[in-house]
Amino acid sequence: MKIGIVGLGFVGLSLTSVLASKGYDVVGIDTDKEKCKKINDFKIPFFEPDLEKTLKNGFRKKLTITDNFISLKDCDIIFITVGTPQKSNGEIQLSMIKNATQEIGKIIKNSKKTPIIFLKSTVIPGVAQNTVSRILEKFSGKKAGREFGLVSNPEFLQETTAIRDTKFPHVVILGGNRTKFMDKAKKFLSKLHPGVPIIVTNHQTAEIIKYANNSFLATKISFINQLSNICQNIPGANVDDVASAIGLDPRIGKLFLNAGPGYGGSCLPKDVKAIMNFSSKAGVSPTFLSAVEKINQQQIENILKIIKNTCGSIKNKKITVLGLAFKPHTDDIRDSISLKIIKELLKNQAKITVHDPMAIENTRTKFKDKITYENSISLALKDSNCCIIMTAWPEYSKIQNKILKNMKNKIVIDSRRILKNSKLDCTYIALGIGK
Ligand code: UDX
Repeated sequence: MKIGIVGLGFVGLSLTSVLASKGYDVVGIDTDKEKCKKINDFKIPFFEPDLEKTLKNGFRKKLTITDNFISLKDCDIIFITVGTPQKSNGEIQLSMIKNATQEIGKIIKNSKKTPIIFLKSTVIPGVAQNTVSRILEKFSGKKAGREFGLVSNPEFLQETTAIRDTKFPHVVILGGNRTKFMDKAKKFLSKLHPGVPIIVTNHQTAEIIKYANNSFLATKISFINQLSNICQNIPGANVDDVASAIGLDPRIGKLFLNAGPGYGGSCLPKDVKAIMNFSSKAGVSPTFLSAVEKINQQQIENILKIIKNTCGSIKNKKITVLGLAFKPHTDDIRDSISLKIIKELLKNQAKITVHDPMAIENTRTKFKDKITYENSISLALKDSNCCIIMTAWPEYSKIQNKILKNMKNKIVIDSRRILKNSKLDCTYIALGIGK
């Protein structure tokens, strides 16, 4: 069986590596020649634990990486994993999906195969049927459901655990018509993920499941962040104890209740905005999700208020930001709340010094020489008027008095509460812990 994967971002490259390492004959395709060259030289374009190892393992078996769609010709299965970037109004852009689909259509036109095409990219309801299926039929001259199959198959992997999540998903969603292709798709995926529940539904339901999933995760975070702000105004109250207690109620569950500066990354902010935009168009005012998003934005204002209340005027003051990546163990800064805080601090003419174990180079491309970059935590804190911990990197939880001694004003604002049990000789403010 030959498998093609179109679009080599986090989802596509993880899937390519996992399938190739399992011994499938895999071709990974990306229109970015430079990216293909890098991957062929084992240089991964972004950091993801275990990806390099899995990719190398795949290359030892039957893996090809190319920018040439012709390699899809003998594929029995094709995954579409291209990105769906966001417009300023929250709507998703379909240009990459359309281009990829067009190219796939042209290839299957002259192929003897009757492939199953899995749409993994995150798309709003209706895209599989109204856009992807139509383009495939137009450019191949073949009929969906008869000469090729189209199955919506959304992905739920998290960055930093992408390989594990690709190998062991918690669920497999298959959306589409109940044709022979759906039976084959189910057989293939149940063999790949034995024991994992498979939900078979139609395209549009599969498409909205992805948005339901991510917007519910965002909801849990905004809920606990609102509780965190309430706790902060109750002397002695601790949001982590609240989260642990309510998390033990099986109806609530303990995951995604870590209060912090708000949710960032390439998916949650984007998907909440996209479903809000879709909801409005569908005639349903997204009242609830608007609140989820508003709370997320307010976290930035809350943190700024705490900084100003504690430091007074921040003009020309040295503020140290520890943590730039949107979460630990990645160099990804997309929609990172840390970067939004830095932008606001710069507007207030603060002098910013930043530290991050992995994300400095990516941050440099955004802020250039407007801020100072340090590879050592102590140097970042030297002569600083205030330190803000934004990302829960393990190294920040080891901060002790001796590292703080060179600060000008010993003020630590801990948005992740990772130093809450340390005995620090400083003004320590933790989000969600009432003074
Ligand atoms: C997310 C979804 O979890 C995943 O299922 C989907 O496929 C892609 O989007 P990811 O972007 O990798 O994955 O990040 P995630 O681990 O979900 O974290 C998103 C943001 O929420 C981060 O900024 C993180 O710090 C924040 N977060 C997460 C919290 O503030 N508290 C939590 O309890 C959990």
